[in-house]
Amino acid sequence: MPLPTTCILFICFFLSSPSFLTKATLNLTLPHQHPDPEAVVQEVQRSVNVSLSRRQMLSLQGKGQRSTCLTGNPIDDCWRCDSNWQKNRQRFADCAIGFGRNALGGKGGQIYIVTDSSDRDPANPVPGTLRHAVVQEEPLWIVFAADMTIQLKHELIVNSYKTIDGRGANVHIVGNGCITLQYVSNVIIHNIHVHHCKPSGNTNIRSSPTHVGWRGKSDGDGISISGARLIWIDHCSLSYCTDGLIDAIMGSTGITISNNYFSHHNDVMLLGHNDRYALDSGMQITIAFNHFGDALVQRMPRCRRGYIHVVNNDFTQWEMYAIGGSANPTINSQGNRYNAPPDQNAKEVINLMLFLSFGFLIVRPTTS
Ligand SMILES: *[C@@H]1O[C@H](CO)[C@@H](O)[C@H](O)[C@H]1NC(C)=O
Ligand SMILES: *[C@@H]1O[C@H](CO)[C@@H](O)[C@H](O)[C@H]1NC(C)=O
Repeated sequence: MPLPTTCILFICFFLSSPSFLTKATLNLTLPHQHPDPEAVVQEVQRSVNVSLSRRQMLSLQGKGQRSTCLTGNPIDDCWRCDSNWQKNRQRFADCAIGFGRNALGGKGGQIYIVTDSSDRDPANPVPGTLRHAVVQEEPLWIVFAADMTIQLKHELIVNSYKTIDGRGANVHIVGNGCITLQYVSNVIIHNIHVHHCKPSGNTNIRSSPTHVGWRGKSDGDGISISGARLIWIDHCSLSYCTDGLIDAIMGSTGITISNNYFSHHNDVMLLGHNDRYALDSGMQITIAFNHFGDALVQRMPRCRRGYIHVVNNDFTQWEMYAIGGSANPTINSQGNRYNAPPDQNAKEVINLMLFLSFGFLIVRPTTS
């Protein structure tokens, strides 16, 4: 009687390993989550200190430096002080600070030059297009042959180990999508304008050389990060999208969002899927040196769970509130400039309704 034997064996297996099952279901640690987020915060402060003291030393010596170098911004100083940066593009991968500092992007891979701004068939992209570059398996450092506006036909699904480097060209990504980082790691997006992104989908889209998948309808985020790790978004401008400008959800971690300009938008940044999504407790994100500019309404960011370091950002007004949180996030706000709007009902930096379920808010003066 083979059937009962199998059943008994099966039951024995479960009975003998309850601890294995408990651990497997309770392990909420995400890959690449740092055991001590405060150590990463300290490291950010140290690198800002180093950049600032270099700048101060130079001004004491009365040496007039070009304004693009030795600015006190450790990320910019890391590559802009190299007048030969065009020849050393991949050095940029070493310039990140904060939780996304280990994002490799396409470091070590070949340079891929985008020459064709078209996006005719998202299931079968032609060589020379951005979509053809981002779906490849190997690390690629993607640059642009000329100024271009890429009107996406559908979401741009980016594979792991890619840098999209817009330096030296004026690159706009608009249309349907826009950029989707889903269950990938090590992506750097730098110096790109992302705007007017709209929902789309219910179609086949290529996500790797060997996989074309059916995609439902997207939200219309500028950059949608979902279950992704080691992501760095720097010096982009983002505006006028249907949903979030940048959203990070579903256990995404190891992320730095720096030096970006956000404008003309309602729900700017959502960090965390929903209040009950436990994996987002391991979300660790640095929001540094961004300018939250004209005509923004709310969510700069809106945090659920996780550890969010909001440092040295400039908030020039908002319509409802700047930062919101729920489900016990830790929000470490340092050295930000909050310029509240004249509207008496929107003076709070922090949304107090959301704040009722806050775990921990650190507001410290900073050294910079
Ligand atoms: C939990 O998951 C993390 C990340 O995948 C892993 O590094 C760690 O070893 C796991 N811990 C246990 C107890 O399984
Ligand atoms: C940064 O510099 C300030 C003084 O300018 C100092 O108080 C602070 O401890 C430094 N932080 C780190 C992490 O080095």
